[in-house]
Amino acid sequence: MKAIPALKDLEARLGSLDGKRILVRTDFNVPMEEGRITDDFRIRAALPTLQWLQERGATVVAASHLGRPKGTSDPKYSMDAVRQRLGELAPGVELLENLRYHAGEEGNDPTFVASLVDGIDGYVNDAFGASHRAHASIVGPPQHVPSAMGRLLQREVEVLLKLRNSPQRPFVAVLGGAKVSDKLGVIDALLTTVDALAIGGAMCFTFFAAQGRSIGDSLFEPDQVDTCKRLLDTATKPIHLPSDITGLDAAGNYATFGTRLPERAKGLDIGPGSAAEFGDVVMDARTVFWNGPMGMFEDDRFAAGTKTVAQAVADTKAFTVVGGGDSAAALAEFGLDDDVDHVSTGGGASLELLEHGDLPGLAALRENAA
Ligand code: 3PG
Ligand code: MG
Repeated sequence: MKAIPALKDLEARLGSLDGKRILVRTDFNVPMEEGRITDDFRIRAALPTLQWLQERGATVVAASHLGRPKGTSDPKYSMDAVRQRLGELAPGVELLENLRYHAGEEGNDPTFVASLVDGIDGYVNDAFGASHRAHASIVGPPQHVPSAMGRLLQREVEVLLKLRNSPQRPFVAVLGGAKVSDKLGVIDALLTTVDALAIGGAMCFTFFAAQGRSIGDSLFEPDQVDTCKRLLDTATKPIHLPSDITGLDAAGNYATFGTRLPERAKGLDIGPGSAAEFGDVVMDARTVFWNGPMGMFEDDRFAAGTKTVAQAVADTKAFTVVGGGDSAAALAEFGLDDDVDHVSTGGGASLELLEHGDLPGLAALRENAA
């Protein structure tokens, strides 16, 4: 298998970067509220690559998607706020308008690819968070111009493939979030690598349902119950599920439950006993991967489970990797983001890389290597 070219390989292939026009695909799909950026982590994460290129005299043209405007120029998804922030952090870097204003982006249309590489001498993919998408700006340019991975992409791939292929043991994965269906593939894949799995967040109720427990009005995915049952029946590694739950009772009041919820009760966080147990599992591990909040942490009443797990991930001596926008946001909110070894800029991308060991964006760079 060919290696993925790095920035130095691109420089060697082009002779020099001085005066060259380099297109950099970044993932500047940042959270926004009322037109303002609420977290610029993904912009800051791309700076080492942008600056590396600029230091060598390249003209840097960045391009990203923002949201899902579905091929229309919806002003709600304009890059203006991102362009302004980028201008403060990396003066001189140009930024194209939202790639997803063009239907050709998600459709991977060759004409759109041609327009992207027009006048471009080289291409760098630093958009880890979007590299699981076989979209035009991710898989197209490497077929036309000398290309490389950026420093962010390189680091993400190194860290996540190390988890997948040669983690220090015990290796524990803590998964949360609402949907099991999004994570079934990765759960299957993780069960072959990890030493234990802990599952919280709303997706634990689909597992509870698979165990025949009553879940009241909690969120769950009826069509995934059989798959969860199969996972529980066949897993050769321990799967930790919550032993208590907090949420709202039938009257809408805050309440703590065991693992059987009364009628019309709604589970919204793992309970204190489970949080302590998950925390212990994390403290005893040597490698930890965490994706997805343990509960509805936006509501203070249901933030405790996520906070306890976040604190354990910060405190453990283990090598810790956190993936996914929600878990990263939770860490930042608790002021713990500096205490984690690697906060991935990708949610779906990190899960898919753990699951498959490769991504469309990586394959495109590798297949078109010199
Ligand atoms: C993300 O935020 O997960 C990436 O930017 C990819 O965005 P998408 O899920 O809309 O493709
Ligand atoms: Mg630590």
